[in-house]
Amino acid sequence: MPIAPAPARSGPWTAAAIPDQGGRLALVTGANSGLGLETARALAAHGATVVLACRSPQKAAAARAQLLADLAHQSVASPHGAIDCLSLDLADLASVAAAADTLAQRYGRLDLLINNAGVMAPPRTLTRDGFELQFGTNHLGHFALTQALLPLLKGQTDARVVSVTSGAQYFGRIDFDDLQGERRYDRWQAYGQSKLANVMFTLELQRRLDGANAGIRALAAHPGLARTSLQPSSVAANGSWFEPIAYRLMGPLFQSAAMGALPQLYAATAPEAAPAGHYGPDGFGGLGGWPRPVPVAAAALNTNNCQRLWQVSQELLAGCSAWPQVDCL
Ligand SMILES: NC(=O)c1ccc[n+]([C@@H]2O[C@H](COP(=O)([O-])OP(=O)(O)OC[C@H]3O[C@@H](n4cnc5c(N)ncnc54)[C@H](OP(=O)(O)O)[C@@H]3O)[C@@H](O)[C@H]2O)c1
Repeated sequence: MPIAPAPARSGPWTAAAIPDQGGRLALVTGANSGLGLETARALAAHGATVVLACRSPQKAAAARAQLLADLAHQSVASPHGAIDCLSLDLADLASVAAAADTLAQRYGRLDLLINNAGVMAPPRTLTRDGFELQFGTNHLGHFALTQALLPLLKGQTDARVVSVTSGAQYFGRIDFDDLQGERRYDRWQAYGQSKLANVMFTLELQRRLDGANAGIRALAAHPGLARTSLQPSSVAANGSWFEPIAYRLMGPLFQSAAMGALPQLYAATAPEAAPAGHYGPDGFGGLGGWPRPVPVAAAALNTNNCQRLWQVSQELLAGCSAWPQVDCL
């Protein structure tokens, strides 16, 4: 797959550098809030048709209305793209399958998939299919969605799959003996595991896409620390007295959601973003700043474990009656 050289740029990469997305179709999971909303906004502002894939139709409709109103007021050189909504609950594999079917019927193609939605550090909860919520939503739901959408991505020019990970990947560990936290559940370890899984999935996906000569790029990105609903939702779910105080003390470290969305926008649109590339902020500790290539967690470089995670994920889906057996790679 030809990768364009980086264009000469005097300053940092900003959303203004996004190439024209006219004619491209993008699906963003969790697009009603935070990084997903900002990603949808930037892609639509550059002409892409954006599908907001959300679990709440009401929130999706509100986000669509907000984006259309904002874009109408924004002075952009070319007309913005259309914005569509799609019902998708990543914690329910029947919903994932239905969303993929609906997208196939509506459009019959896809250029860009952004696996963005996520939950962080709730008490142990199960998805509808009985998987631990963070593993099930952040990893397995996106793993399933990507497989189901690959037929729509294949054959498209410059097709990409971008998975949104976190700095939590660096303390993550895949506990193959207790993936669902049945014996011992630590909600932060489970979050780190799911975010490390996002990266390992990306690297293994790229290997498999290359093996199949699919001409699709798989990339990952993390936002650093961005002010979104992630932390408030996490606190609301776990009832911690300590975490709200910690987040308040960390206040100055948070960047805006629009800044946090830049690494995934870079991965999604920069001509020079490389297959299996991983991007994050360039500032202190990777917490904030402008997008640049950053190393993945050392644990993700173990190819055997990446293959094992893929295999186990496939087996978990195969054991699930709600999942129509899709295996494209
Ligand atoms: N913000 C940060 O500092 C930070 C740092 C590192 C990584 N990240 C990653 O960034 C991504 C986006 O998070 P964010 O910060 O933008 O948080 P956010 O504002 O809370 O957005 C998360 C989105 O995911 C959706 N979602 C949650 N569970 C879902 C499910 N079962 N099915 C479909 N959608 C679901 C949420 O929907 P509802 O609105 O219906 O809940 C929401 O739209 C996540 O993957 C997160 O791990 C964020």
